[in-house]
Amino acid sequence: DLGFERRTGADELAGHGRGSVRWRSRHSRCPDNPRMAKEKSIYICTECGGTSAKWLGKCPSCEAWNTLVESVAEAAPKNRYTIGMGTSAGAGPRGLIASQPVATLSEIEASDVDRQPTGIDELDRVLGGGIVAGGVVLIGGDPGIGKSTLLLQALDELSKNMKTLYVTGEESGAQVALRSRRLGLGKSQVRVLAEIQLEKVAATLEQEQPAVCVIDSIQTVYSDQLTSAPGSVAQVRECAAQLTRIAKSTGITIILVGHVTKEGALAGPRVLEHIVDTVLYFEGDTHSSFRLVRAIKNRFGAVNEIGVFAMTEKGLRGVANPSAIFLSTHGDPVAGSCVLVTLEGTRPLLVEIQALVDSGGPSPRRLSVGIERDRLAMMLAVLHRHAGVSASDQDVFVNAVGGVRISEPAADLAVMLAIQSSLRGKALPRGFIAFGEVGLAGEVRPAPRGQERLREAAKLGFSVAIVPKANAPKKPIEGLTIHAVERIEQAIDLVRGL
Ligand code: TYD
Ligand code: MG
Repeated sequence: DLGFERRTGADELAGHGRGSVRWRSRHSRCPDNPRMAKEKSIYICTECGGTSAKWLGKCPSCEAWNTLVESVAEAAPKNRYTIGMGTSAGAGPRGLIASQPVATLSEIEASDVDRQPTGIDELDRVLGGGIVAGGVVLIGGDPGIGKSTLLLQALDELSKNMKTLYVTGEESGAQVALRSRRLGLGKSQVRVLAEIQLEKVAATLEQEQPAVCVIDSIQTVYSDQLTSAPGSVAQVRECAAQLTRIAKSTGITIILVGHVTKEGALAGPRVLEHIVDTVLYFEGDTHSSFRLVRAIKNRFGAVNEIGVFAMTEKGLRGVANPSAIFLSTHGDPVAGSCVLVTLEGTRPLLVEIQALVDSGGPSPRRLSVGIERDRLAMMLAVLHRHAGVSASDQDVFVNAVGGVRISEPAADLAVMLAIQSSLRGKALPRGFIAFGEVGLAGEVRPAPRGQERLREAAKLGFSVAIVPKANAPKKPIEGLTIHAVERIEQAIDLVRGL
């Protein structure tokens, strides 16, 4: 029985005949009546978890400012969203697992989860093979990048095998239909609901019993359990939590669309990432047609996978061989450029380091953008002392392309190779990458997560790498020739011969 149904239907009809007094008193006794929620919300500190009955600028527990967020005071009543689980529990198509006995770890049968491929290869790649029953996926990205387009295409493919539901809060049903026609999905069997109230969405899920449901977007959905506005941290978190509960109890796969705030975190600030099973992040330059979908977290597969798409007039098309685009956009290799595989959080990221070495005046300049200037001075000294590469009478400019700031020392090797390349006016080979920290003694030290960096480079079509010896993989990586070095002079000698 759905809790929120009690306030509609029979109750309200009964109230009509007997006047509002009885109606109200009934409701005040009803523990899970959503209309009582206004008095039941509490404020929880996002820093320390401390609570307060009213909103305060400063957390009374840890004294942090601006951290209190509205939340529902009570634990959710047991039956509120147990959809499709009447008395005949387990009789439904997916069934609910009843309370489980405690088991010994080694005795638990662990079979791999069943995945349903979406039929869109690049999306399946980041999902770890496909969607999982009861799994919750969050897909984030800038507005207009193609989230709705991709998910509509995926749902259409899935609808050939299973029931699908597309809940749209941003566009009307007609707008979604228009988009589907443009995508050439005129005969699509995808069911569409234009709704933003969580309780109504939940009721529809019970009625329709889809296998997959897309919520586009989580920022537009609101629960009347909370007084906060849709899109607020409190609403986003509560709605995502409720939808996750529904997914887990019914086996419906739920895909949440989330917009990215200006700071780049998924709104509301990362609160959803720990609730859901899988976090995908849509990236791309709106000036180019290429889009990347990255898995940042995946309980059902590997992270740091990327899917590559091209936006066409008929929607998103997977790009099976991304190396082609990345190499062609770079044109011919130029002197003074070296591609670095850096880490952005836990994600490997390829960044081009450019260096320009030019004859300077009496006091040569050393300028760097995106890389620490002190570090640059140090690298120039190491290059001179240990590798015999002198730039003492030269101006040296170094730039990390794309406005990124690189703070990790693993950038050293790429910066030094770029400087050396500019100095001798000779480009590094096509498809070349490097990473590794260089110490004052000229030793090349390993970088964290070297294997992931190399795999990312290989995935993006890079073919030659110079890496610290300790980062050299035991098993060869397909398509990538790896040169392991222990000292900077070794690296310099190597590139002279490449
Ligand atoms: P959309 O999926 O609406 O983005 P999001 O849901 O992430 O906000 O994508 C909108 C953009 O994609 C829009 O600028 C138009 C473009 N587009 C195409 O180029 N081709 C297409 O077939 C479609 C449907 C959209
Ligand atoms: Mg959209």
